[in-house]
Amino acid sequence: TITPVLLCGGSGTRLWPLSRKSYPKQFSPLLGDTTLFQASAQRLSGADYAAPLVLTNSDFRFIVTEQLAEVGIDPGAILIEPEGRNTAPAVLAAALHLQKSDPDGLMLVAPSDHVVPDASAFRAAVEAGVTAAQDGQLVTFGIKPTHAETGYGYLELDGDAGDFSPRPIGLKQFVEKPDAKTAEEMLAAGNYLWNAGIFLFSVKSIITAFQAHAPDLMPPVQAAVEHGLPDLGFLRLDPQTWSGADDISIDYAVMEQAENLTVVPFAAGWSDLGGWDAVWREAGPDVNGVVAQGSATAIDCEGSLLRSEDAGLEVVGIGLKNIIAVAMPDAVLVADAGRAQDVKLAVAALKAKQ
Ligand code: GDD
Ligand code: MG
Repeated sequence: TITPVLLCGGSGTRLWPLSRKSYPKQFSPLLGDTTLFQASAQRLSGADYAAPLVLTNSDFRFIVTEQLAEVGIDPGAILIEPEGRNTAPAVLAAALHLQKSDPDGLMLVAPSDHVVPDASAFRAAVEAGVTAAQDGQLVTFGIKPTHAETGYGYLELDGDAGDFSPRPIGLKQFVEKPDAKTAEEMLAAGNYLWNAGIFLFSVKSIITAFQAHAPDLMPPVQAAVEHGLPDLGFLRLDPQTWSGADDISIDYAVMEQAENLTVVPFAAGWSDLGGWDAVWREAGPDVNGVVAQGSATAIDCEGSLLRSEDAGLEVVGIGLKNIIAVAMPDAVLVADAGRAQDVKLAVAALKAKQ
């Protein structure tokens, strides 16, 4: 079986004011009725999958149990990170925890803040990577790039993605978050895909990869798992030893160094909802390019997103062009649509005021 390992530790500042430190975007119903986290858990349930292992922090632990219960999914385990150390220590902790119960198993590491509308196509892509993962490969999922994004990892294919049918293809290299010029070059070269940030590998081979490429992480993370405290159904990793782990992502710690990489192309739709521009795109704008969500009304608007979380707080836009307006009970964002990625500046500015 495959154990889904759901990462939900990030705070998602580019979706302020919906996404907050205390209630980040993955726990909100950004599109549709279920939250991104619930949709991620549902996507990876069914006959081939074991109960999910969730990695989160103390603040979100009850949100996690509540949201899983709402969609009828029993968590296999919930590991609590005493502090965020990024994805490398989190994934290693998951692998070391699974090693005790399922040393020969596979794990599917997935962020909980992505949108993947076609769940069965996604499961088919995972299925296409299973044999490679059992053979010791670290399997990535490749998305056809549409622009020279610098916030993603890039996968250089040893071959051709062709019609994007899901099958394992060898990888020449993994380049995490290139600068703008390199991203342009890779886009023009045509043999690079975006890394979806989703990984499939065996418990054994990822532990071996950490030993080879990030040996300094082993002692603190191993100790934090061993000395973890079971607490009301959660496993609280030991804070003292955990704080000795470097803050580094799995992309830099392992993927950029590893040589046993494989990619399965995935073309059925994927977005990491990295800002309000992506929410606008995924929500499906009308003919005028308008998206109105919740208690929002647009009159003669173009290319705009209007959203109100609160039934008692109506938002009405008249004659707006390329505007993002998001109202929460305690905060309102009004921004030029072209500046969607700068919303993180709002969070920084508010923090500085405190
Ligand atoms: N539990 C836990 N603990 N989860 C974390 C932590 C942590 O310390 N840090 C981040 N996460 C979660 C985030 O909430 C998110 O769901 C996922 O791990 C990935 O982290 P991001 O911080 O969003 O990574 P990224 O978007 O910059 O880059 C990754 O994803 C891109 C695609 O969206 C990389 O894998 C890139 O290569 C990839 O292209
Ligand atoms: Mg991300």
